[in-house]
Amino acid sequence: MTVARQPPPHAKVDTVSRIVRVDLDGRGYDIVLGSGVLDQAGALIADRLPGRPLIPIADASVAPLYLDRLTASLKGAGLRQAAPIMVPSGEGSKSFERLADLLDQILERGAERRTVLLALGGGVVGDLVGFAASIALRGLDFVQIPTTLLAQVDSAVGGKTGINVRQGKNLVGAFHQPRLTLSDLDLPSTLPRRELLAGYAEIVKYGLIDRPDFFAWLETTGQEALDGDRAARLHAVATSCEAKAAIVASDERETGLRALLNLGHTFGHALEAETGYGPTLLHGEAVAIGMVMAFDLSARLGFCPAADAARVRMHLSAVGLPVDARSLGLDQGCVPRLMERMQRDKKVKDGSIGFILADGLGKARLVSGIPPQQVAEILAASLPL
Ligand code: NAD
Ligand code: GLY
Repeated sequence: MTVARQPPPHAKVDTVSRIVRVDLDGRGYDIVLGSGVLDQAGALIADRLPGRPLIPIADASVAPLYLDRLTASLKGAGLRQAAPIMVPSGEGSKSFERLADLLDQILERGAERRTVLLALGGGVVGDLVGFAASIALRGLDFVQIPTTLLAQVDSAVGGKTGINVRQGKNLVGAFHQPRLTLSDLDLPSTLPRRELLAGYAEIVKYGLIDRPDFFAWLETTGQEALDGDRAARLHAVATSCEAKAAIVASDERETGLRALLNLGHTFGHALEAETGYGPTLLHGEAVAIGMVMAFDLSARLGFCPAADAARVRMHLSAVGLPVDARSLGLDQGCVPRLMERMQRDKKVKDGSIGFILADGLGKARLVSGIPPQQVAEILAASLPL
């Protein structure tokens, strides 16, 4: 069970607006959400992890924006902190080389078992630092301080950590839960609009998985959340964290229900791989296109009303997300290769691709045994000749 609650009085954080709890046996943790959380980081960490030595680790592009505020807050709370470590921004940092370099720097700073790593940045830094934490000295504690919308609603919640390898994205990693996630809702204001929208796609995903009322709310108010209205942003991020926390609490290691979080990802990952995981298509954009495809396929198979698929397409398009693969420099000749890429997806079991499809808005489920021809036709319909 997961509950959203007001901060307890001992938290000494008057600017914090919400706390969502991720309930995991003995490894549960708080996601603290609100404006000004970054400046309260010291107090919040001192409250939950008193007296622990800290190593801040920051995305190199995020550091000039927010690292000083973090270190000042830690200092203000009287916490012991090592010199910060910088990680070059970009997906390339989720590599063995960068991991080795990071582990070197962590050990050079005299890390001991009680040391806590602080990950300041988006999903790249969160995934990399989390994985380093899972193996340094056989396991260190870490705190997520997500700075992108995507990381606040997805990667900083749930304990999946890892790096990319030659064979594919996120194929080496560990389940390692943070001890605390600190989400300052003001930080994504410095993101390029495209990155903000990419995070929004993951917010929509939670509505489509199992929260139809939330999806309906997003249809009317999602734009305000995107534009930075504080109350709307808080509701969107907190509801997303609650939705993810509830799924993670019931299936931490993805033996069943957690697979639903991959709605849109089977199609999306194939498109991302085909476009080289680069700036042509951001992860969240791929998820947006993938969710449209998943609903179109669901409607084609008679699982959900065509009107539901149309609502998904309409909302994503209305906020400015891509809903087809027409502008990616691909064409219908790519379909066989995209099908091959899907065949290598982590959800393939005994040769059959598992798709997250839907019986309607907020009614997602895992389905296997879908005829490949139906999948190929959905892909072709999204691509130019
Ligand atoms: P990212 O970490 O690469 O950040 C995107 C860009 O924004 C980077 O250039 C970064 O330097 C910059 N940036 C970050 N915060 C900023 C800010 N506040 N202002 C200005 N610029 C800022 O990308 P992301 O979208 O946050 O995360 C994507 C990664 O997350 C992928 O590697 C993906 O595999 C991973 N992911 C992991 C999970 C999980 O459960 N662990 C879930 C979803 C995605
Ligand atoms: N982002 C998918 C998961 O955390 O399971």
